[in-house]
Amino acid sequence: MGTRYGRRVEAVLVVGGPGTRLRPLTVHHPKHLLPVAGVPFLAHQITKLAAAGIDRVVLATSYRASEFEQTFGSGQELGVELVYGIEEEPLGTAGAIRNVASLLRGRRADPVVALNGDILSGHDLTAQLARHRACSADVTLHLVEAEDPRPFGRVPTDATGLVTAFLEKSPDALGSQINAGCYVLNRSVIDEIPIGRSVSIERETFPGLLAKGRRVMAYTESAYWLDLGTPKSLVQASCDLVRGIAQSPAYDQPPAESRILPGAVVAPSASISRGSTIGRGAEIEAEAVVQGSVVMDSATIGKGASIVDSVVGPAARVGAGTHVHDAVIGDGATIGEACELANGVRVWCGATLGDGAVRFSTDV
Ligand code: GDD
Ligand code: MG
Repeated sequence: MGTRYGRRVEAVLVVGGPGTRLRPLTVHHPKHLLPVAGVPFLAHQITKLAAAGIDRVVLATSYRASEFEQTFGSGQELGVELVYGIEEEPLGTAGAIRNVASLLRGRRADPVVALNGDILSGHDLTAQLARHRACSADVTLHLVEAEDPRPFGRVPTDATGLVTAFLEKSPDALGSQINAGCYVLNRSVIDEIPIGRSVSIERETFPGLLAKGRRVMAYTESAYWLDLGTPKSLVQASCDLVRGIAQSPAYDQPPAESRILPGAVVAPSASISRGSTIGRGAEIEAEAVVQGSVVMDSATIGKGASIVDSVVGPAARVGAGTHVHDAVIGDGATIGEACELANGVRVWCGATLGDGAVRFSTDV
């Protein structure tokens, strides 16, 4: 477990959430394994940990737990040893970390990196670990500025960078600095989390540490950062990686307007742009237009159809001349010809819409 930090460092990835805001894409798969730039999302985070010298990563799984090991196995291909912990019942973000504590090998004073498993972040993890050590902190949180902080945890700090409060999903105007979902925790902090019940790290553990006067330090860095909790942010992360706006050790392609995965068939007159990804075995027919979108494995896009700012799930079919703008099509759904889907509409997995079945009176 050697790291550039110079001490033992292990990581826990908290990946048990059901991904409700991403439905129907998460009906059959955890959000952490959805393809982002053609790679199961978690591979971006695991290789980032490996690049920081962390070589042992514990996954705290719950929702659709078995898929993680089926996807990543021992972790060898990603350059780490992967260890899988499973919660029978979801235990919350701190309960999940406590539940896998017995799988960690570090000693009481050793730091552990814990991450939300849905964050694409370019921040310097080695610098965050160095700040943790330099400040003799109990916990060091990566913080970022958010344009709209309301869906996140707000984390005000004092002039020395010490955290003064932790306000999860608060509507109050308390600054725009938010919890970016990557923590360095001393092992002793993990051992203090209650066992056997659901515990939220944001609503219980962090406020509790502050109330006890423990040293909770901020590491603020404004590198690329995105939470993949919604279809819009999933698509944005994917397109940003393809276009080189975001970087990941798991994505080694040069910046481009599109990524066509092996086995996809794209007609020469089709146009794929704005960072779109076309999955393995997908078929894009003549004159179709795909912009700023993710078309997953084995999906079919018919002649002259347009897919803009959207996700087309695996094995879904979009008929000729259909327009899909700002919409999500679930796994295996079939959309007939000459339909118009827009304004955030979501078509459920396996649903069938006939030719011209959905239209909007306004232009889409
Ligand atoms: N194992 C396990 N068990 N994992 C869980 C559970 C659980 O009961 N509940 C949630 N998770 C995992 C999710 O899979 C995700 O990786 C992570 O914990 C955070 O859950 P989200 O549901 O994505 O939370 P959020 O995005 O609304 O808010 C969190 O992340 C923000 C940054 O992206 C909070 O930590 C906020 O404070 C933070 O600002
Ligand atoms: Mg999230």
